[in-house]
Amino acid sequence: MSTLGPEIVDLSAEELRERVAVELDRTRRRSAALTDVVDDEELVKQHSPLMSPLVWDLAHVGSQEEQWLVRDVGGRRALRPDIDDLYDAFQHARAERPELPLLGPEESRQYVATVRDKVHDVLDRVPLRGRRLVDNAFAFGMIVQHEQQHDETMLATHQLRRGDPVLHAPDPPAPPEGTETSGEVLIPAGSFTMGTSEEPWALDNERPAHRVHVDDFLIDAHPVTNADFFRFVDSGGYQQPRWWSEEGWRYLRHAGLEAPLFWRRSGDVWMRRRFGRVEPVPAREPVMHVSFHEALAYANWAGKRLPTEAEWEKAARFDPRSGRSRRYPWGDAAPEPHHANLGQRHLRPAPVGSFPEGRSPAGVGQLIGDVWEWTATDFAPYPGFEAFPYREYSEVFFGPSYKVLRGGSFGTDPAACRATFRNWDFPVRRQIFAGFRCARTPSRAELD
Ligand SMILES: [Fe+2]
Repeated sequence: MSTLGPEIVDLSAEELRERVAVELDRTRRRSAALTDVVDDEELVKQHSPLMSPLVWDLAHVGSQEEQWLVRDVGGRRALRPDIDDLYDAFQHARAERPELPLLGPEESRQYVATVRDKVHDVLDRVPLRGRRLVDNAFAFGMIVQHEQQHDETMLATHQLRRGDPVLHAPDPPAPPEGTETSGEVLIPAGSFTMGTSEEPWALDNERPAHRVHVDDFLIDAHPVTNADFFRFVDSGGYQQPRWWSEEGWRYLRHAGLEAPLFWRRSGDVWMRRRFGRVEPVPAREPVMHVSFHEALAYANWAGKRLPTEAEWEKAARFDPRSGRSRRYPWGDAAPEPHHANLGQRHLRPAPVGSFPEGRSPAGVGQLIGDVWEWTATDFAPYPGFEAFPYREYSEVFFGPSYKVLRGGSFGTDPAACRATFRNWDFPVRRQIFAGFRCARTPSRAELD
């Protein structure tokens, strides 16, 4: 599996072009696979008011690619300026997208293929250094990540879709026999480098690198599991306002929440629907399809709290031996299948305790992949933030409406996942592949 990291500054222009072309093609195969497995009727249909029709995501990916790579980077003539507005996410809410005069499935496929042909031509000709937008092929990297993020969104649409399974993948590996899966890890007080100024394809919100002091904290060695979460549900957690924030309780009442999304009780057993299959909820998997509010209520019930974003990143990156921050918990090497459950190789999170080689120096596991993890922190700019290449990438989302999620899920591609990568969403969102782990502040006695 490949991601492009700081090593790309040493590549020749030819090598860099080759690597970019590989990433573009690999990403497009994923988009094609997600849209070729259903028929035209399912492509244009809205599977949930929370999501766009799949055919919108497909052409939107092409439209963004045309605007940034063909027109801006390439300086070429616009192919379809007439459809810019249809595929502008800021112009039309997801719920209204099915009513728009969208390109049909075949037209959309042709459109994205035509754009891609032009992009390969631009990639062959444009210098990849000397202009900030194209330095180290940044704009191409931004577009690869954008498409991969929409692929994860399309995967979430597949999860919401009703009907027989159309996606198939082997189960993730089981943890080694006898792996300890409960417990917390103490991260001692001190400062560390948060964010990055080096990662060539890092997005504006991950920049710049800056020092942050973090007090002593304990963090769960693994994400909260379905078995853990059962206990909260079965002890009446969804009936007791004392565990919930005021806003969370209002949301629970309004939405009628009783358990994570896709769970159904059948007699004494909780069942779940997963990409069209109905199965018992597996005890040892990280819980997912919970909102920020549910994560926070669980943490309160457990006598803990959610980690702040800085705590999460320190747990994931800080190497106490060298004092530096790594790209990933296991080091600087690009993610391989033995490190983390990424890239839709599997259609579910792996049981806790899996991927021992992916642990952080302090011994925190599964920070990358499996499930996105809700943090306690509002999405906000780092000190020295500069919007790039446009305000609509991140800046317009900063503020208390969005909570930060970290670490990526089984459906996140390695190209759009690093220990600095920041995702954000509304605290009520449940259809995303999100779970959480807890943290807490140690007592004096625990520190002595
Ligand atoms: Fe988009």
